[in-house]
Amino acid sequence: MSVTPADYLYVQQVVREQASIILSATQQYLVDQRLLPVARAEGLSSVDEFIRKTKSDSSGRLRKLLVEALCTNETSFFRDQNVYDALKASVIPDLIRARSQSRTLRIWSAACSTGQEPYTLAIMLRRDFPLLATWDIKIYATDLSGAVVAQARSGRYSANEVRRGLSPDVLASAFTQVGDEYELKKEYRSLVSFSELNLTAAWPIAEPIDLIMIRNVLIYFSAEVKRDILTRACKKLRADGCLFLGTTETPAAGLEDLMPVWLKDVIAYRHRHPQAQPTRSGP
Ligand SMILES: C[S@@+](CC[C@H](N)C(=O)[O-])C[C@H]1O[C@@H](n2cnc3c(N)ncnc32)[C@H](O)[C@@H]1O
Repeated sequence: MSVTPADYLYVQQVVREQASIILSATQQYLVDQRLLPVARAEGLSSVDEFIRKTKSDSSGRLRKLLVEALCTNETSFFRDQNVYDALKASVIPDLIRARSQSRTLRIWSAACSTGQEPYTLAIMLRRDFPLLATWDIKIYATDLSGAVVAQARSGRYSANEVRRGLSPDVLASAFTQVGDEYELKKEYRSLVSFSELNLTAAWPIAEPIDLIMIRNVLIYFSAEVKRDILTRACKKLRADGCLFLGTTETPAAGLEDLMPVWLKDVIAYRHRHPQAQPTRSGP
């Protein structure tokens, strides 16, 4: 059963207010599909009832559940292999040369969903760059949704999830089978620290970042919100740092600070005016 136009308007409003995500008129089917399991988990028999309760819930808990359910969490290990080829061939080697004195690397996977993106980075750094074993490395991994962050933190994946993107060799060496699931080994998990973060709110990440991945999330935002997020990401990115968007995403029009660079078969972004950017310390 479809929600009423008034209820759909309410859902669109909540999702826009809380996450800046724009749900179009044609996405109404998502509401029934995604909210019914949430309603049932709350002991309610219909989406209508869930929306009614959400409207009168002053704690904000149900609004959060509603927004999380309407986010698209699609992801996979080594999503867009050419991005990881470019990282391996040039971005990481260049950063290793540039940071040979401080021996620190700071990476941010913004909108990390269930963790495959930051864990892919951890797997790549550990397997392909053994000299980094003694470096101080942190991969910050954040997402709006507490539910996906909790799942990511567990480091556990189903057989279907590990089949998407992982070679048998990586699966065998980096994961341990636990019942029906696969758990990423601690040596990789320990590189990643997860937290909830709404990209449209304040970012409590104090350090300048060497590599930022904001992939497959900007598509959900208006041009204005996208420009604001990328402007702030630019400020967090070190002078010689590198930023990756999703392969179908582009920076908002009028954003002059970012310069596209071709790295093998993908476009990454660097500062157009690196001299004006953070170098070694301070936000
Ligand atoms: C399609 S997934 C992308 C995952 C990963 N970056 C990738 O490319 O495979 C989009 C993620 O963005 C998150 N998201 C949506 N709106 C957000 C916001 N305002 N702030 C932070 N994360 C958000 C969703 O919860 C979801 O996990």
